[in-house]
Amino acid sequence: MQIKKAVLPVAGLGTRTLPASKAIPKEMFPIVNKPVIQYLVEEAVSAGIEEIIMVISKDKEIIKEHFAENLELEKLLEQKGRTKELEAIRKLKNLAKITYVYQNEPRGDGHAILCAEEFINDEPIAILFGDDIVDNEKSALSQLIDVYENKKTSVIAVTKVPEENISAYGVIEPIISDGNVHEVKSLVEKPETKDAPSDLGIIGKYIITPEVFKNLKAAESSHGGEIRLIDGFIKTLDQKTEKIHACTVQGKRFDTGMINGLIAANTEFASK
Ligand code: UTP
Repeated sequence: MQIKKAVLPVAGLGTRTLPASKAIPKEMFPIVNKPVIQYLVEEAVSAGIEEIIMVISKDKEIIKEHFAENLELEKLLEQKGRTKELEAIRKLKNLAKITYVYQNEPRGDGHAILCAEEFINDEPIAILFGDDIVDNEKSALSQLIDVYENKKTSVIAVTKVPEENISAYGVIEPIISDGNVHEVKSLVEKPETKDAPSDLGIIGKYIITPEVFKNLKAAESSHGGEIRLIDGFIKTLDQKTEKIHACTVQGKRFDTGMINGLIAANTEFASK
């Protein structure tokens, strides 16, 4: 089955980027001249996604506005002969079919994904978190889709993480690795450096099968009542109902959910 839908959960609080993200969602922070969220929508579209379900909160309506038509602005730019800007604005409303759903309280990334349930019909879907940008000619999502098409399992994006940072990540324990593709034995959330089962840290890009979605739904609330996507993967591995693969994505990765990651992304993209 082809991957045609992507869920973008972007209803989180963004506490790590406060106070910058107090009134402006971190997904609207610019990387040079476009907000982070636009890079993610473009990544999805270029990977063949036809429908995006964006999970927002009522405080993040501005994301919706960014992709909506603004006829008044278009008219003004037209009158002023600002053709380049006009094109950039018009492009936004036709970029993708985006449906918005609301997460009423921030109960975790897994809970946000479950909020999109009514738009998902027992099909594999892509998930892109709102803060991970990978700069590469072939997008990270396209790389995951290649692995999905080959293995027909859920696929988790991972990146090699220096030892001193590994305890900030979910980490995979691979059973076997074939180049960039790893069959996953287990997942550990934020391990102590000495307990990390590998140097492969999970980043916010995934393909999930209906089995993982089902197990996410069934997952007990963990970590302070939050439901996290990783719970769906862990349950699937525990039950051994399906295999899960991970893919070390090629490209330079930026965590724009941290101010230093956002600055690094700006420096890199501006230099191009
Ligand atoms: P993060 O943990 O990276 O983002 O969640 P956060 O919670 O917004 O930020 P911090 O940790 O407080 O700084 C991963 C993704 O899941 C979304 C986030 O918006 C982000 O895209 N998310 C997280 C939700 O949609 N809802 C939630 O309840 C939590």
